[in-house]
Amino acid sequence: MKRILAPSVLAADFKNLGEAVEQVAKAGAEYIHIDVMDGMFVPSISFGMPVIKSIRSSTDKVFDVHMMVEEPGRYAEDMKKAGADLLCVHQEACRHLDRTIQQIHSLDMKAAVAINPATPVSAIELVLDQVDMVLIMSVNPGFGGQKFIPYTLEKVRQLRSRLDALGLFTDIQIDGGITLDNVGQVLKAGANIIVAGSAVFGGDPEANTRAFLEKFGGAFTR
Ligand code: DX5
Ligand code: ZN
Repeated sequence: MKRILAPSVLAADFKNLGEAVEQVAKAGAEYIHIDVMDGMFVPSISFGMPVIKSIRSSTDKVFDVHMMVEEPGRYAEDMKKAGADLLCVHQEACRHLDRTIQQIHSLDMKAAVAINPATPVSAIELVLDQVDMVLIMSVNPGFGGQKFIPYTLEKVRQLRSRLDALGLFTDIQIDGGITLDNVGQVLKAGANIIVAGSAVFGGDPEANTRAFLEKFGGAFTR
């Protein structure tokens, strides 16, 4: 599985958002992780379609939009129009998860499903063969800069072995509290798309991006 860094722009300086995106893209990040929060599914509010649309011209890298929003299907079409390539919805936020995944695919975006720390991997068992990526949250969603929750590592291991057993090469993304110190562990557990917010944008984003990529040790095949 190819290893990819997805810097979370939530931790960037919004005054120079386009520049921040350009910096990490230039340094080798292949995904740009974009956290959309609605103040309902999570306590905080971040930004939405107009901001995404505006930074779309900064790069042609994959826009990986993490919807921390109740019933995100309501915005799928608008997100596509704003420039999303991949739409990630929470299992906990979708009353009709199967329908929402189909809707995302019908709009020609990649579809991903996310689960909160306390949601078991078994909750998404029946959609594993329908999604392009699974996001294991390693903090409770809603804020950047939180501490990694260690028990989520076991969920990454469980999910990778379940995917292997099903013969699926689905991406596993991990999000929350990832640093240069713990990234080795999560890669080893089977995650291959790594989100990092404060660890990339707190300091020199280009140098931090390169430091993460060095830890990845290049692409590899399982
Ligand atoms: C948290 C968001 C994350 C966040 C990660 O709710 O989904 O993507 O930006 O930030 P760090 O890497 O600082 O924990
Ligand atoms: Zn996120």
